Amino acid sequence: MKDLPGLLAQQTDIAAGIRILTEEFPGTVAFSTSFGQEDQVLADIIWKNQLPVRVFTLDTGRLFQETYDLMDLTRARYKQPFEIYFPETAAVEALVKEKGMNSFYDSVENRKECCYIRKVVPLNRALKGVKVWITGLRAEQSENRHDMPVLEWDEGRQLYKYNPLIHWTFEEMMAYIDKHNVPYNKLHDKGFISIGCAPCTRAIEPGEHPRAGRWWWEESKKECGLHTS
Ligand code: ADX
Ligand code: SF4
Repeated sequence: MKDLPGLLAQQTDIAAGIRILTEEFPGTVAFSTSFGQEDQVLADIIWKNQLPVRVFTLDTGRLFQETYDLMDLTRARYKQPFEIYFPETAAVEALVKEKGMNSFYDSVENRKECCYIRKVVPLNRALKGVKVWITGLRAEQSENRHDMPVLEWDEGRQLYKYNPLIHWTFEEMMAYIDKHNVPYNKLHDKGFISIGCAPCTRAIEPGEHPRAGRWWWEESKKECGLHTS
């Protein structure tokens, strides 16, 4: 067995790194995109290099119109397929029947319940049979992400998680987007940095933490459960 973590930790060419993984785990490498800036960089690399990677997104049903616009723009630009996973209808219907449309503002517990139904369960469905999950995580984004390696074994999900941008700075990411004219979410031009669901994301002020606009009313760690076990 190759020392994949060692091999990939030294690999600065992301396309080459992904190729190593698709050769090692054919047909079982998947990339999750939220259509944020990081993910648009990775999509550009995957599609321009025609890497055999399944691409999917999780539509919570509460995304910004600008995010849906970007999905269509990305589809038109690259002409490459991506799958869109939705939450289970019955679970959402039961949630809003019991707690209303905006229960996430009432408590951290309620907020995590909504994230679980709208994001985590669909993610688990999308990752069925996947051996390598590619993400756009960057260490700078949050404390929880500081020590994440480029390639890690996810014991809970029993798969490798590949975070090729983990050591990229915000400036490096923006330079890539500029240089390759990568389509991006128009909300980024209006002070939004990290973009999730519309009711749970606001623009940030200069000097604020990049994730300050996510679940801004909470003191809790700003995570939705996709990247915490
Ligand atoms: S979150 O945990 O706070 O929601 P964040 O927005 O920082 O995550 O994105 C980090 C990575 O998680 C993205 O690069 C992407 O791989 C994955 N991700 C987050 N949201 C989604 C989504 N809606 N659909 C698919 N992948 C997502
Ligand atoms: Fe629900 Fe907000 Fe989580 Fe989206 S971010 S799934 S709307 S709690």
